Amino acid sequence: MATAGQQTQSAVDKTAPLTALDIERIRREFPALHVERDGVTQVYLDNAATSQKPKSVIERIDRYYRSENANVHRGMHYLSEVATQAYEESRKKVQRFLGVPLSCEVIFTRGTTESINLVAQTYGRQSVGKDDEVIISAMEHHSNIVPWQMLCEEKGAKLRVIPMTDRGELILEEYEKLLSSRTKLVSVNHVSNALGTINPVRHIIEKAHEHGVPVLVDGAQGAAHLPIDVKELDCDFYACSAHKMVGPTGIGVLYGKAELLNKMPPFMGGGDMILSVTFEKTTYSSLPYKFEAGTPNIAGTIGLGAAVDYLESIGMERIAAYEHELTQYATSLLESIDGVHLVGTAREKAGVLSFTMENAHPHDIGQIFSDCGVAIRAGHHCAQPVMQRFGIPATARASLAFYNNKEDLDAMADAIKKVKEVFD
Ligand code: ALA
Repeated sequence: MATAGQQTQSAVDKTAPLTALDIERIRREFPALHVERDGVTQVYLDNAATSQKPKSVIERIDRYYRSENANVHRGMHYLSEVATQAYEESRKKVQRFLGVPLSCEVIFTRGTTESINLVAQTYGRQSVGKDDEVIISAMEHHSNIVPWQMLCEEKGAKLRVIPMTDRGELILEEYEKLLSSRTKLVSVNHVSNALGTINPVRHIIEKAHEHGVPVLVDGAQGAAHLPIDVKELDCDFYACSAHKMVGPTGIGVLYGKAELLNKMPPFMGGGDMILSVTFEKTTYSSLPYKFEAGTPNIAGTIGLGAAVDYLESIGMERIAAYEHELTQYATSLLESIDGVHLVGTAREKAGVLSFTMENAHPHDIGQIFSDCGVAIRAGHHCAQPVMQRFGIPATARASLAFYNNKEDLDAMADAIKKVKEVFD
C-alpha cells in the first residue's frame, strides 16, 4: 500500500513556487469532496468545524482494525506489539510535526477541549489561588473560556480579557497592562475560529515570560494551517485536534514542557497511568503515560500519525502560502458584493471568512447555501463573546483548507447572489 508521502509526492513539485499545488490531484485523494446530492457535487467550506480526510488516513485506520487490532502497552503478544509500535510511532510523528523537543512531552487527549481542561484541572488547580488572575483574549472559543471560568470560580481568582479592535486584532498594549504578579497563566488561541485572526503568539509568550508566566496556545485552528514549532514559539502548552488536521475525530494533542508536566498532578486516574497501586497508596507513571489513563484511542492516534504524514508530504509552508492566496481571493469576492459585511478583517488572517448580510439572518444564509450545495457554518461558532463584541447574534462562516480551489469560492459567491435574490 502506498504511504501518504508516496501518494502526494507528485502533487507537490518542491521546486515550484510555494503556492503551486496540484489541487486536482490532492482533491482526488479526499473521497468526501466528491459527494453528490441530486447530481450536484457538494462544495465543502466548513473546514474550521472539521476537515475532510484523505484516503491514506481512512485506509490506515482500516488497516489497524483489520490486521493490527490489540490493546497497547499491555499485551505480550504479537498484535499488541504491532499496535503499541504504531501508537508510539504516531507520538514521534506528532513530535516532529509540532517541533516538540522530547516525545514524552506529547500527550494524547480527546482533542483541544480536553487538552485545555487537563491544564486547567492540573496546572491550574495547583497554581491558581484566591485573587490570582488568568488572562485569555476577547476572541476565544468557549473551550478556552469556560475551563478557566470554572477554575477561577473554584479558587476565587479572576479572569482577565485582552480586548480587541473592530478589525478583530488583539490590543497588545492592553495585554501588557493586564500582566502582573497576580497573573498565573495566559491562554490564547493561535487562530480565531470566528474571525480568522492569526494572533501574535510569539510576542504574547515573550511578554508573559518577562513576568514568569506560562502560556497555553489553543492551536485548534492553527496546527492544520500554519507551520508550528513549539520550541521556537517557546509556548509552555500547545493544544490541537486531529479532526481539524485531516485526521479522525476524538483524538488530539497536548504539548507541555516536561518541567511543567512533571510537576503537575495526573488529570484522570486509571489503568496505564500508574507504577503501582495498593489500597494505601498509588504511584504514578512517568511522562507521557501519567496523563493517558485508560485504553487510549488507538485507531485515532494511528490515524493522526497518518494525517501528520499527509500534511508533511505537502508541507505546511506550502499549505499556508496556498491558503493565504485563497483567502485573499475569497476576501476580494466577498468585498465586491453589495450588502455583505466581513466580520474580522485582521491584517494577519487565516482562511476563515465570517460575514453578515443586510437583509438575511446567518441561519437563512446557511440554509440557502446548503440548498445550493455549499457547506458553511452559521451561528455563534462557540464564540458568543465575539458576537457580543461585534453586536451581532451570529455570522455565516466559510472556512478554507488546502484542498479548496477558486471554483469553490466562486460557488460561494453564486450562493450569496441566490441569498440576495431571495431577501433583497
Ligand atoms: N470549533 C469548531 C468550529 O469553529 C467546531 O466550527
